[in-house]
Amino acid sequence: MKKVLIATDKPFAPVAVSQIREIVENAGYELALLEKYTQKSELLEAVASASAMIIRSDIVDNEVLDAAKQLKIVVRAGAGYDNIDLAAATAHGVVAMNTPGQNSNAVAELAIGMMVYLARNGYNGTSGSELLGKKIGIHAYGNVGRRVGAIAKGFGMEVYAFDPFVNKADVEAEGVKVVDTAEELYSTCNYVSLHIPANDKTKKSINFDLLNKMPKGGVLVNTARKEVICEEGILKLMEARPDFKYISDCAPDCAPVFAEKYAGRYFFTPKKMGAQTSEANVNAGLAAARQIVDFFATGNAKYQVNK
Ligand code: 3PG
Repeated sequence: MKKVLIATDKPFAPVAVSQIREIVENAGYELALLEKYTQKSELLEAVASASAMIIRSDIVDNEVLDAAKQLKIVVRAGAGYDNIDLAAATAHGVVAMNTPGQNSNAVAELAIGMMVYLARNGYNGTSGSELLGKKIGIHAYGNVGRRVGAIAKGFGMEVYAFDPFVNKADVEAEGVKVVDTAEELYSTCNYVSLHIPANDKTKKSINFDLLNKMPKGGVLVNTARKEVICEEGILKLMEARPDFKYISDCAPDCAPVFAEKYAGRYFFTPKKMGAQTSEANVNAGLAAARQIVDFFATGNAKYQVNK
């Protein structure tokens, strides 16, 4: 009997796990669960007998793939797949997929929620500011970016976007002003919400020069990946621009410096939690389970990312 392993350092909500189990068992497979593991050796042991694996931000590298002798497919229940070594997956004959769009609303709500939290000074009783009438720049207008834009419009914000991969006319038809360069986005907007993937081209690309273009009181909101930020650059900016603020879903490596020097000008979640809602867990987890069942039944590899 094929075994489907859920390997999640950050567990899904129980309701998602039980519904994934139903899909997997109805298809005639066995479900195995590895949650909150602390040692890589636990993952290496668990993958040894798995034919399929559902993960979140869990690292699937060459060593994991070497240990996964039966593995045919790994599905990242979520959008970003920078945690999977795609070349190694291909070399091991393993299909890697993601579940695009399934957790977007949860991430978008967190981005806006953190903006309100910081604009109101962490609800500490002092006078803050409002989002109404402010300009927000969406850096990469994909599933999450689009949702952030839609919610921001409800707050009465002016929405701008920069994304070389979208059709300008289509996005403008949604009431979003599309700009042609990242520089234009950053120099125009009071808030910039980041939605770029982390890859060789984007890592450390959000640097001092780009961020320094933001108007006075600028706020960077990062629900993408900490790796896309140039940490030396943002620290230099925090020092040079006492008006600038940074919000990130997942603390940067330089978080201790923020804690020591920039109280009130930043907010970091303790653990990446944009997609940590039961709704997102159900959407992404069930999509992953269905993609696995469909892949084994029909060979459907629509969401394959290691082609
Ligand atoms: C994603 O890429 O889908 C999000 O960053 C969510 O990641 P998570 O599943 O680890 O919460």
